Amino acid sequence: MSDYLYDHLADEFAGLIDGRVLRPGDRLPSVRRLASQKRLSVSTVLQALHQLEDRGLVEARPQAGYYVRGRAPAPAEPETQKRLTRPTFVGVTRLLMEVLHANEQPGVLPLGAAYPGAGLLPSLRMQRMFGKVARGREDLLAVGSCVRGNDERLVRQIVRRSLDWGGPLAADEILVTNSCTESLNLCLRAVARPGDTIALESPTYFVLLQIIESLGMKALEIPTHARSGISVEALDLATRNGAVKACLLVPNVNNPLGCIMPEEHKRRVAALLAERGVPLIEDDIYGDLHFDDARPWPIKAYDTSGNVMLCSSFSKTVSPSLRVGFVAAGRHCAEVSMLKTLSSGVTGTMQQAALAEFVAGGGFDRQLRQARRAYARQVARMSDAVAEHFPADCLLSRPQGGFVLWVEMPRQVDALELHRAAVAEGIAFVPGQLFSAAGRYRNCLRLNCGNPWDPRFDAALRRLGELVSRRL
Ligand SMILES: Cc1ncc(COP(=O)(O)O)c(C=O)c1O
Repeated sequence: MSDYLYDHLADEFAGLIDGRVLRPGDRLPSVRRLASQKRLSVSTVLQALHQLEDRGLVEARPQAGYYVRGRAPAPAEPETQKRLTRPTFVGVTRLLMEVLHANEQPGVLPLGAAYPGAGLLPSLRMQRMFGKVARGREDLLAVGSCVRGNDERLVRQIVRRSLDWGGPLAADEILVTNSCTESLNLCLRAVARPGDTIALESPTYFVLLQIIESLGMKALEIPTHARSGISVEALDLATRNGAVKACLLVPNVNNPLGCIMPEEHKRRVAALLAERGVPLIEDDIYGDLHFDDARPWPIKAYDTSGNVMLCSSFSKTVSPSLRVGFVAAGRHCAEVSMLKTLSSGVTGTMQQAALAEFVAGGGFDRQLRQARRAYARQVARMSDAVAEHFPADCLLSRPQGGFVLWVEMPRQVDALELHRAAVAEGIAFVPGQLFSAAGRYRNCLRLNCGNPWDPRFDAALRRLGELVSRRL
């Protein structure tokens, strides 16, 4: 729960609007009236109203006050893949690089890569931490070790934070890495070989496919529901005959769907995979960016045999360019640790020490609360704009956290072709084809909502909606 009165007031009105007690076109009581009814200051009431405006729930009419906005009906959720198919070798890397380069051309709006908005990151405070550790620990850049690369203080903070979700993690299974991507690479190399089959959600984060591709492994896409995540029944079926060598999942705030698996499903997946000896590599990078009050537990919390390798990083919450992540590798810790030594040695001491200072110093939870509220607003605003500007038969995800939105367009639309046309007009997104090894989701796209709402986004989505309509 938030500590701020204006959040409570905004939530109260959001509930009334959601429950249709207040309907589109209804006028809200005046600011002064609300202030006296609720015994709040005028500025608190105004802050709550601004928040409701940001969420796209109310609009200010000059000289007339605040009114409930007429919203386009919420589109239905996307279908995703329904059937289990064969494992496939992956070939997404070349296309991915083309899309990433196009999205980062100067002047292109940042609706492509899933980067957090700069204003929601504690960058200045982190930079101060670098100064502090640089002044206070003169040996930091002079010490070297091949095998003891963890900053113990940082590990303690990682363990402490795991108490929020059913931890504690064991300090001796943790390895600090150069990113979540590095953690995932190391884990996959530790438990599988070229030619092996790896089970994943479908759709899934494209870099997971890229890693599988680079290691010469095969991807088996498991049907995944846009709200409840991977189908436990399909995973059960797929892992019966021993062909699946590992599982690579994003159960908390899947990228691109934004869904969180129900806790009961997580418990079943943990038990099922442990029983069959299929290691689970769990990517929990968005676990702290949930929209509901409670921190969702990772599957790792239900693991009793060391079968789950939990990977995460601070890229979405502290800095995407800090490059500090970690893995709690369970019973595969020794193998992962050896691979880390061979591939990149240890993780930068300066980054680790600055991060430990920041996390230990407090303020991180408050910053996370603000970021979560901002992302929930930004996702809602982007959803409204898509509902308003895209053809009515488009389907839209309803993310439970994070900051990406998934849109399923009518079958005639080829997202890759649409992407080329959109980038030429300065609008980025990630085409759906990249989220599947088998070229599924060619009529889908992912939008980044990491940045505060900007009128240019509205114009861009209007234009994108026109480009989609033209292709029907
Ligand atoms: C699900 C998921 N895992 C991992 C990453 C990459 O994390 P890092 O920057 O720490 O390598 C991302 C970034 O978009 C992501 O969405």
